[in-house]
Amino acid sequence: MPRAIISPSVLASDFGQLTAECKRMMKDGAEWLHMDVMDGHFVPNITMGAPILTSVHKAIPDIFMDCHMMVANPIQWVDDIADAGGALYCFHIEATSDPLSVIKKVRSRNMQVGVAISPDTPSTAITDEVAEASDMLLVMTVHPGRGGQKFIEACVPKVAELRARFPEKNIEVDGGVGPKTIHVCAEAGSNVIVAGTAIFGAQDAAEVIKQLKASVMAAQAKFAAKA
Ligand code: DX5
Ligand code: ZN
Repeated sequence: MPRAIISPSVLASDFGQLTAECKRMMKDGAEWLHMDVMDGHFVPNITMGAPILTSVHKAIPDIFMDCHMMVANPIQWVDDIADAGGALYCFHIEATSDPLSVIKKVRSRNMQVGVAISPDTPSTAITDEVAEASDMLLVMTVHPGRGGQKFIEACVPKVAELRARFPEKNIEVDGGVGPKTIHVCAEAGSNVIVAGTAIFGAQDAAEVIKQLKASVMAAQAKFAAKA
């Protein structure tokens, strides 16, 4: 089983203090930072792009930026995000008819590759060939576009379907995840947990990160005991 990783979504942070917020999360136990890049086309909102990631990376060279690309033309931004110091480039399968070319390009720039599916997209949209070529599969548990939405539990079976097909891949969940909704995600087999509001909105972010990680590890221990 791949290990438990918590990736706080900086969309819920104070963008005016972005590097300080990222440092605080790393100090509080976050291994990755989830950077939501939106282009105003794939989703209606615009958030941040490569120039901001460049500044963050310059201030925190050892940061692992888990870049969630909610963009209409994923291949277009690979070079910019790689140059900005992105560690993982996760694009939406809905945004391309040629995912393998995007994957090849991301690999050529030495980033990890993630493939995301929105709530209305079935897990079967990720073919074996695409998944095998990727490092991570992202099951969205809200409609991409903004933070602070309600968790859509109907998406959780897709996590279990992908975990059954790919026992060793990183499987990330994103959207409305927090201490109240982590259990179903962890039990379905997700090991990379994105949380924005639940972490940045908490009094004690370190405690929430610890709880989320502990839930994943407890679910993994159950799986291991069954196997
Ligand atoms: C939504 C983004 C998420 C979002 C998560 O489009 O992809 O990463 O920021 O935020 P919460 O945890 O607040 O739902
Ligand atoms: Zn995201």
